Amino acid sequence: MNKMKIFCWLFLLCISQNLLAKDNRDRPLYKEASAPVEKRIDDLLSRMTLEEKVYQLNQYTAGRNNNINNVGEVEKVPAEIGSLIYFGSDSQLRNKLQRKAMEESRLGIPILFGYDVIHGFRTIYPISLGQACSWSPELVKKSCAVAAQEARRSGLDWTFSPMIDVARDGRWGRASEGYGEDPYTNAVFCVASVEGYQGGDMSNNQKIAACLKHYVGYGASEGGRDYVATEISRATLWNTYMPPYEAGVKAGAATLMSAFNDISGVPATSNHYTLTDVLKERWKHDGFVVSDWCAVEQLIPQGVAATKKEAALKSFMAGVEMDMLDNCYLKYLPELVNEGKVPVEKVDDAVKRVLRIKFRLGLFENPYTPESSEKERFLLPENLKTVENLAEESMVLLKNENKTLPLSQTSRIALIGPMAMDKENLLGAWFAHGEAQDVVSIYEGVQAEFKKSEVLYAKGCDFEGNDTTGFAEAFRVARKADIVLLCLGEKRKWSGENASRSTLALPHIQEKLVLELKKLGKPIVLLFSNGRPLELCRIEPAGSAIVELWQPGVMGGKAIAGILSGRVNPSGKLSMTFPYSTGQIPIYYSMRQSARPNQGKYQDIPNVPLYEFAYGLSYTTFQYGDLKANQTTLKRGDKLVLEIPVTNVGDRDGAETVHWFVSDPSCSISRPIKELKYFEKQVLKAGETKVFRFEVDLMRDFGYFDESGTRFLESGDYYISVKDKKLKVELTD
Ligand code: NOJ
Repeated sequence: MNKMKIFCWLFLLCISQNLLAKDNRDRPLYKEASAPVEKRIDDLLSRMTLEEKVYQLNQYTAGRNNNINNVGEVEKVPAEIGSLIYFGSDSQLRNKLQRKAMEESRLGIPILFGYDVIHGFRTIYPISLGQACSWSPELVKKSCAVAAQEARRSGLDWTFSPMIDVARDGRWGRASEGYGEDPYTNAVFCVASVEGYQGGDMSNNQKIAACLKHYVGYGASEGGRDYVATEISRATLWNTYMPPYEAGVKAGAATLMSAFNDISGVPATSNHYTLTDVLKERWKHDGFVVSDWCAVEQLIPQGVAATKKEAALKSFMAGVEMDMLDNCYLKYLPELVNEGKVPVEKVDDAVKRVLRIKFRLGLFENPYTPESSEKERFLLPENLKTVENLAEESMVLLKNENKTLPLSQTSRIALIGPMAMDKENLLGAWFAHGEAQDVVSIYEGVQAEFKKSEVLYAKGCDFEGNDTTGFAEAFRVARKADIVLLCLGEKRKWSGENASRSTLALPHIQEKLVLELKKLGKPIVLLFSNGRPLELCRIEPAGSAIVELWQPGVMGGKAIAGILSGRVNPSGKLSMTFPYSTGQIPIYYSMRQSARPNQGKYQDIPNVPLYEFAYGLSYTTFQYGDLKANQTTLKRGDKLVLEIPVTNVGDRDGAETVHWFVSDPSCSISRPIKELKYFEKQVLKAGETKVFRFEVDLMRDFGYFDESGTRFLESGDYYISVKDKKLKVELTD
């Protein structure tokens, strides 16, 4: 009997082992986590029908419907869809949709969930224009890592960020979304954000894929209008607009988004040169490009396609792999393949690129997001500290007459203005799932910081309009105070997409409030929160001190309060020029030299900006020593090492950013007056001297791109400048 039992057990064991082996044999290679990604992709692709492939190249939206079970949403989404823009703020709906993809589609290919996580998911930090003023790539990287963590835990795999469009016209609402007017600055912060979002390994459940946007030249939008044409020569494309993208691709950015603009007549979304010749062939990018929202069908109004089918053909053949929302690929790609207009190999290459990112994100192994409470995911204390530091370092002290700031702890402070109690507008545009209730307002920050002071408040006026009835209360409050903090600025919807303005000036009512209050003779500190450089020429004289807060996010009120009290020594410097007035635009530090540098000026306004690029004050003073080089006559291949000692001669510790500029006054083509090539920020204790160092790579830092995108380096004189220190070096043959 016992023998019989043993025999039965052995028999069953054999059968189950056999079944298991068979199961492993039948298990497709693409499902084997240990197999190399490229092998898995090939295997999966070989099993896909044309229809399944085309689905991978399309993106829908989900999560806008508030229906309890989101039943409608789930039904509406095809199980085979490649990607979704996911508007949800938790993983529930994602997981339902993902389950449909994993269990109801023939091959079980996970969906890629993307969203605009631009400056935070729920823990909102300063807008990118402000981030760049911190000159701290490390802090930006850390903040992007916070955003990635919150986003991934909430059901996202992919963010449509960073925006790295060099922007030189503050009227363009989207200037707020990028890192300012300089190509190198955009490149450095691009790399920092890609590293923050993606880390080394995107399959880590704290990381998300990045998307460099908007490729390319969108920041050159004529007159600062959105969606319009751009006129960009090849040399300008290479020297101004491409460098941040090249840096982002090198840093491993998973994806890019094609831009809305046309580039000298060829839309960015159907531009074979930028999308394929450069991105895929020269830079060897192996991820994919998604179109911007309906940008494929917009090739029709842009005048290069007569029908949606032609639009699909043009953008796909140019190198846009995924169609955001307009269904042109879904409808027409199969037809175009069958008609022989689109080679199936091209479809295969596109699908491989999309699958590659899904594999790298680990979605085949971990398609679902573990559920967690908001408390576990959002506004974690260490994350709040990171974004508070970034807000502090982003703010720029623009003026500080007679050491108006920092304020004494025992002053009577009048907080006046529409921004004083405001929370929502401190979030800025594209605030993802940020909530006004999370924000520390300026008023709250000041109250908590100045416990021994009396803090009075009056709104004074609204952001716009003509109503001056609040002025009387503002005067009453101001009269009682030792110092007036006037909190002004822009509503969050005044910048971002489709939010251009004809002037950088604040609405007249705000300027009027400043000028009327000035008549009281009290010292005024102007605090501005806005998404673009402002035209301050009429009100700047009224401020004894001025601080630019940008749109600082949830910790904004606490950060500015720290600066006002002196607990924080301001260290921000501008990433974009503040013109004297809007009529000066275009004005940026790296313009090319005029044929007559002393003539041709506007006759009715000053011709220098109010605050130039890289300008910003501190509560301490930094003294720059002599700029020194290891050699001043160089041959190609030589190593040039530059050093400058900087001493904190004040009585407070402070951080200083040293910006290194290069000029080439005589070249075969006219070059910018100067170009930023390196920067470094260091903390200096009171009395301390530190040596800042720049190791020059001659081709990278002295060289220039020609029209074909090839770098060249000419012999001759070059100048290196730091603040007002200048040094000449000569490159011989
Ligand atoms: C349009 C915007 O131009 C782009 O920046 C954004 O990522 C997409 N819409 C998706 O929302």
